[in-house]
Amino acid sequence: MKSTYFLDSMRAQEKWRIEECINLMPSENQTSPQARALLSADFVNRYTLTVNAEYAGEYMENSYRGTRITTEIERKAEELAREVYGCKYACVEPLSGHIAAMIAIVSTTSRGDKVLAISEEFGGYDGYAQKYIPDIVGLRAGKLPFEASKWNLDYEAAAAQIRRQKPKVVILGASLILFPYDMPPIKEACDGVGATLLYDGSHVMGLIAGGEFQKPLRQGADILYGSTHKTLPGPQGGIVLTDSKEMDKAIRGNLTWRLMDNAHWNRIASLGQTLLEMRRFGPAYARQVVRNSKRLGKELKERGVPIMFEELGFSESHQLLMDRRALKARYHLTVNDFANRMERSNLIIDAVGRIGTCELTRIGMKEKHLPELADLFAAAAGGKAVKKQVKALRNQFDMDFRYR
Ligand SMILES: Cc1ncc(COP(=O)(O)O)c(C=O)c1O
Repeated sequence: MKSTYFLDSMRAQEKWRIEECINLMPSENQTSPQARALLSADFVNRYTLTVNAEYAGEYMENSYRGTRITTEIERKAEELAREVYGCKYACVEPLSGHIAAMIAIVSTTSRGDKVLAISEEFGGYDGYAQKYIPDIVGLRAGKLPFEASKWNLDYEAAAAQIRRQKPKVVILGASLILFPYDMPPIKEACDGVGATLLYDGSHVMGLIAGGEFQKPLRQGADILYGSTHKTLPGPQGGIVLTDSKEMDKAIRGNLTWRLMDNAHWNRIASLGQTLLEMRRFGPAYARQVVRNSKRLGKELKERGVPIMFEELGFSESHQLLMDRRALKARYHLTVNDFANRMERSNLIIDAVGRIGTCELTRIGMKEKHLPELADLFAAAAGGKAVKKQVKALRNQFDMDFRYR
């Protein structure tokens, strides 16, 4: 292998995925250049582990030395997270949304408890299926009743199930998330049986930071957690937020030497930078993401792409959903093969039928640019190769990040 193989790959990836593709993945985004630069800062070489406890019979504050600045950036990132999300406690250590979920769940349950979440069939996160997180931490997993026609919970049935099954934890939030949840009836049912209400905001953390979608901690969630790199345009990682002192204590108690050791402080510095940017540009960015979803949904639908939920305004988030059956009838392709066809034209979508507007918003696209994008999408969907035109449209935006 050439000694420059990995550096060459980096350049090839950047040229292709950043300069030549339009990314419509709802689970990806682009950090600002500043947040990206911080990922290769010296923090990537360092540790800081605040212990403040007896270790081998002697009191120890921190297992490491030379930690002054590293410890300080974590404190500052937490401070910004509290400010941006309007909450009392923030933890920026989780290495990913999945680890954030494990920390929130382990901090609020004991072995043998029941957890209810949205089924994978309706876009719920796969990690909450019995064989994944619940099996690892010894929980019994159940599913919340869902109304597919509204892409939302069946609230009456869900509240009744919570009262009947008395779970220890109920989790709202999903990987395929189009509309906010009506949280009060779920919160009331949880309160009635002493259940903790968690909100997995992995997909919508950037919208929530900008005041869009919903305010889970104001609407009844005990803990809000998730990824930091989907609608929140930060580095890949996780975050956990709460207003409860006891829950924060339990969360902290499940970090060092339980679910975590090294927290990747370069990532934390980069996340801090992202939160600083969101404090200023978050509301404009989040508003534009939702506007772009609604408009792109309309433009695609008008061109025959089967986007669902027109009657509900298509979406209140960064996601649109294609109807699999209609897609097959129109293009004679499975969603998987359809995504491959789109990739041949440098339009990157996922293989479950979701289309995301967070990254196109990040690079500066507004409603007025979306008819052209929809034309290209529809042409590529019909089997025409439009790679060159996609690249030309992408280049109009020229890495001009408006929201930083
Ligand atoms: C709802 C939800 N929760 C958790 C995760 C896991 O996040 P991560 O990939 O950051 O570990 C995902 C990932 O897509 C997700 O969609």
